Amino acid sequence: MTRVDDIQTREARHVLQLYRRAPVAFVRGDGVRLYDADGREYIDLLSGIGVASLGHAHPRLARAVAEQAGTLLHTSNLFYHPLQGALAERLANLSGLERAFFCNSGTEAVEACLKFARRYWYTRGDARPEIIALEESFHGRTFGSLSVTSDEHYRAPFAPLLSGVKFVPVNDPEALLAAVSPATAAIIAEPVQGEGGIRPLTPAFANAMTEACARTGALLIADEVQSGLGRTGYPFYFAALGLKPHLVAIGKALGGGVPVGAALINDEVAKTIAFGDHGSTYGGNLLACRAALCFLDELVGGGLLASVGRVGRHFEGRLRALAAAHPIVREVRGTGLMWGLELTRDAAAIVPAALERGVVVNRTAERVVRLLPPLIITEAEVDEGLDRLDAAIGVVETQTSSGA
Ligand SMILES: Cc1ncc(COP(=O)(O)O)c(C=O)c1O
Repeated sequence: MTRVDDIQTREARHVLQLYRRAPVAFVRGDGVRLYDADGREYIDLLSGIGVASLGHAHPRLARAVAEQAGTLLHTSNLFYHPLQGALAERLANLSGLERAFFCNSGTEAVEACLKFARRYWYTRGDARPEIIALEESFHGRTFGSLSVTSDEHYRAPFAPLLSGVKFVPVNDPEALLAAVSPATAAIIAEPVQGEGGIRPLTPAFANAMTEACARTGALLIADEVQSGLGRTGYPFYFAALGLKPHLVAIGKALGGGVPVGAALINDEVAKTIAFGDHGSTYGGNLLACRAALCFLDELVGGGLLASVGRVGRHFEGRLRALAAAHPIVREVRGTGLMWGLELTRDAAAIVPAALERGVVVNRTAERVVRLLPPLIITEAEVDEGLDRLDAAIGVVETQTSSGA
């Protein structure tokens, strides 16, 4: 038995079977490279779904985490520690939203934004029963965030969900303007839809959101869990769209692999929230804050943001050339280091073909190959990874056209 078989057998017996894992067990990483239990090397163009923002075994992150583990990891939110305020200040400077609530995942960040939006209207004595969300959205798996996630496949087994959620088609300004009313508590949207197939919102749609919020007083929640913190070449894509959200959900890239999420809150909403309204045992502990501060050092002071812009343009050029060479690639969508290749057919066969050629990608929205490489990737590594993906697409394309 190979080691991956051993691992699979044990998991099959004792781990709740929720994930259709690829038959690969990664045991080590270095920069943009991963190594499996058999010693094979892969270029990681997915970074654990946008999380390993600094790549794998990043020396400064590794040192910071080890140092923090040897000093103090957790004390709870019953006491102060020196790192949470420092991280909140850095996030406020980056986002323009004055306050942060720390949690441990993207879904918790969205959950917090939804609760804070409800609390805002409760404080104002204006019961607003509706939330507007977008079709093709994904906001997480807990009840609140699932309620604003559009995919019936995720929703149906867990009904009833939160009432009052209305979905409007993405990038349809008229539909949005018609749906938002004085009964709307909040609009929630991903500035670049991730799971929905890497779809940036259009400027016209963003303008309609701003107009609808101004007309009705509805709050705007930007879910930047996947698109935020440098992934698109901007600190946040909402700013690129000219949006001014009241609440922003972040997660994934922030801890570089250490679980941390946050809701960023503007002062207008923050002042309606009272002691004890919400909380988390782990949220914002020393380990999480130390990792996040290290990530932000690299992103802002370390020049990562500028590099995402530059390498992202190279990435785009390579993807457009790849699309021109392969008739099964219908469309290239994205920005920075957040890209989707929409195929003319189900993209499922690309993932194992890519793994076989030593490159990690993912399929989303059935026909889309999703690419979220570590933000530290270089042009040369992009070339190496996309050469391997090019070969994988070529093989799948040949099988398709020969009817295999
Ligand atoms: C936009 C968006 N929001 C929320 C989530 C949920 O994050 P998590 O899986 O960390 O709970 C995700 C996860 O993919 C996401 O892409």
